[in-house]
Amino acid sequence: MSDAPETSDAEALGELRAAARVLLEWEEELAGGALGGAAIPALDLAALASPAEPVARPPEPVAREPERARPAEPVAREPERARPAEPVPREPERARPAEPVAPDRGPAAPLAPESFAPAGGGGRLQGRAAEAAGGRRCGLHAGRTTSVFARGRWDTDLAFVGEGPGYHEDQQGAPFVGRAGQLLDRMVAAMGYARDGVYVCNVVKCRPPQNRAPHPAEAGACAPYLEGQLDNVRPKAIVALGRTAAVGLGVCGPDTRGWRGRWGAWRGVPVMPTYHPAFLLRSPQQKRVVWEDLQAVLRRLGRPIPAR
Ligand code: URA
Repeated sequence: MSDAPETSDAEALGELRAAARVLLEWEEELAGGALGGAAIPALDLAALASPAEPVARPPEPVAREPERARPAEPVAREPERARPAEPVPREPERARPAEPVAPDRGPAAPLAPESFAPAGGGGRLQGRAAEAAGGRRCGLHAGRTTSVFARGRWDTDLAFVGEGPGYHEDQQGAPFVGRAGQLLDRMVAAMGYARDGVYVCNVVKCRPPQNRAPHPAEAGACAPYLEGQLDNVRPKAIVALGRTAAVGLGVCGPDTRGWRGRWGAWRGVPVMPTYHPAFLLRSPQQKRVVWEDLQAVLRRLGRPIPAR
């Protein structure tokens, strides 16, 4: 069911064009990477892309994140632990670059709570979003510009869970709106979903300093929000983006080897753990295995794998 407002033909066409653009980029990245162009879904882009609106984007400018004064971090640092050797490639603990890169298109507009938590089952999420906005469950609240709850739609069969907000997310109040978010959008489009046809949220709702991974105590403090979100959305499948999300959803441990691509479950909902888009920005050759994971999700959902 959908509570989304009716869209005009022009808006629908605009959305199609946007979806075509992100999908083309994902395909180009895959084709330029390890896949060599094989088994990549494609759309009839010629029919969708406006001649006045070329699909190729110019190289994106890199912007440094402005320095912000940060209060002392009150949460105790997680002690370093020796990790056993793990077969390569291993996604590093720190999934996101400390220095975010500015998006090459206008930043996605932060969504009003109603857009991801409309009346009905999602109504409860509005309360949760408001609660999180004032939340002080852990020390991360002290450094936030705004808390970041979710984007997308609550009445969907697919949810993505990331780690925690970065610079752009903290500024805009919506998850995955920076460079990693743009890549996530391309992954979502490649799966045949509209950008906002899925639910997107994070393990923690406030930005960790320097984009470090959230400490287990911080993830634990925020867990009631995440649980409330997923309990209300009740997707048919969840994609855990990165190890922190996979650990947060309980489908692997912090030292589990070979965690990627192995189905787990969160309260009976199938969870596919895969690499974080920020990791893929640094290791694009890993997009191939991530695409395999996403195809497994589509099969599990009984949805078609977009074909050429
Ligand atoms: N990385 C995440 O894990 N979440 C975001 O919202 C953005 C980047």
